[in-house]
Amino acid sequence: MGKVLIAYYSRSGNTKKMAEKIAEIVKKEQIETVLKEIEDVKVSELTDYDGIVIGSPTYYGTMAWQVKKLLDESVSLHGYLKGKVGGAFSSAANVGGGNETTITDMLNALLIHGMIVQGEPKGDHYGPVAIGAPDSRSLKCCERLGKNIANLVKKLF
Ligand SMILES: Cc1cc2nc3c(=O)[nH]c(=O)nc-3n(C[C@H](O)[C@H](O)[C@H](O)COP(=O)(O)O)c2cc1C
Repeated sequence: MGKVLIAYYSRSGNTKKMAEKIAEIVKKEQIETVLKEIEDVKVSELTDYDGIVIGSPTYYGTMAWQVKKLLDESVSLHGYLKGKVGGAFSSAANVGGGNETTITDMLNALLIHGMIVQGEPKGDHYGPVAIGAPDSRSLKCCERLGKNIANLVKKLF
């Protein structure tokens, strides 16, 4: 009943903690869940998933190059990811440090692929953000994203 990838880059572990929480929640919803560091994700495997959630630390207001590399290489699948469910999350050092622009940059790529991205009226609207390591507020937003992704995948697949 659906398969979801949570792929992240994390140098000092903050984004990884967010990824782990999102994966925990998606799994709890009885969805096959794969949690991977972005550098271990092969472009060709992206077609295997019904949902793809991507996390990156905020680097100069956008995603780390490791994440951009996968997204740029995903051009080889252009048209084949249409209709899948997408989401994104980020950790930055500062409030107003560019975490939302980082998320929307990642979501732009998913939207261009034709993926379905759900916004969130409560908490973090574009996707979960953390300032440094995720605190209880950020983890709650990660839970919400996990639930939203799981519910949408269940409805659509
Ligand atoms: C190259 C580099 C650029 C960064 N740029 C920003 C930035 O623009 N805004 C910000 O708030 N934090 C910035 N940071 C801080 C990281 O986003 C922050 O430490 C984050 O929590 C790291 O996540 P991680 O533990 O998953 O690697 C930067 C860090 C590095 C190494």
